[in-house]
Amino acid sequence: MRVQGVSYRTVWMDRGVVNMIDQRALPFHFAIVSLPTYRDTAEAIRDMTVRGAGVIGVAAGYAMAQAVLEAPPASFDDAMATAESVLRATRPTAQNLFYAIERMRASLSGCRDAAQRRAQAVACAQAIADEDAAAGEAIGMCGQAILGASATVITHCNAGWLAFADWGTALAPIYQAHREGKRIHVYATETRPRSQGAKLTAWELAQEGVPCTIIPDTAAGSVIRRGLITCVIVGADRIAANGDVANKIGTYPLAVLAQTHRVPFYVAAPTTTIDLACATGDAIPIEERSEEEVLWVTGLTADGRLERVRIAAADARARNWAFDVTPASLITALITNRGIIAAEPRAIRDIMRAHPSGVTALIP
Ligand code: MRU
Repeated sequence: MRVQGVSYRTVWMDRGVVNMIDQRALPFHFAIVSLPTYRDTAEAIRDMTVRGAGVIGVAAGYAMAQAVLEAPPASFDDAMATAESVLRATRPTAQNLFYAIERMRASLSGCRDAAQRRAQAVACAQAIADEDAAAGEAIGMCGQAILGASATVITHCNAGWLAFADWGTALAPIYQAHREGKRIHVYATETRPRSQGAKLTAWELAQEGVPCTIIPDTAAGSVIRRGLITCVIVGADRIAANGDVANKIGTYPLAVLAQTHRVPFYVAAPTTTIDLACATGDAIPIEERSEEEVLWVTGLTADGRLERVRIAAADARARNWAFDVTPASLITALITNRGIIAAEPRAIRDIMRAHPSGVTALIP
């Protein structure tokens, strides 16, 4: 990914310190925060300094590595159990968080001593990050094939490179197509209440030179009905074994609109986002966040100050579910790092058995 022409990953670790782009400050300020302990990194996941399913997993892998580096050898198992439970409590819907914690734990199980554990933890966390970036690139290559010489795409929230170590998922096919010279225009839904579409997607597309128009979430129906849209591509926070998808709140109504107007609706995600333990979307835990995010907004004043203002009456109350579930029946296909597949149980089982490096296009 490029920021003002310089290549970055969203999160990286250097000598035990986790560094990340501060997504709370974007698009107004580009800042890097450095987090010396696993508790700092866990807090950055919880407070959404870093957000987006893939990179939450990457950050969790690095946090587990920090926990290994910090753990006293005499009480290693207790220290790691505490670190795991702190991390598990940060964001409940993002499957990649749990994938990373479990993979880190499994990778440490055969280690003989503290030195080996430390080396293994750092190597495994780095592998999780590198594979996340590679998966995004593969999704881009698979997914760009669905975009013709020109396309107008609606995306929701931010499933771009800010939501992964690099490349992203929903935006990866757009970046690949753009680099191949295809004419792509993106409509980014604003994504209330935290505005990831307006604040993050529009910003990162601009960094890559992809034309983008922000629309209010409420405008999507009208834009689709007017025939302006070639397809919808969104990301996923967790995919159930039957193909139901949990993604940012507002994804489900977009899928209903797409079906009503016969516009293809694609979900792009790495296989690490698939949770075979959830039989259907009903089993996916849906994070509910503070009502403050609905009742207040943060933005830049005309004289350049970040300010938080209330947008509802002082005694108004709100609910703030962060994700919704889109049933598999509304999904045209899943664009994964191992190919494009139908959102149905058998195709999902098959792709989870496939060799990690095998990219096969199984377009339904
Ligand atoms: O709450 P967030 O910002 O962490 O939500 C994640 C998302 O941005 C979206 O749901 C996205 O489409 C999937 S993350 C790759």
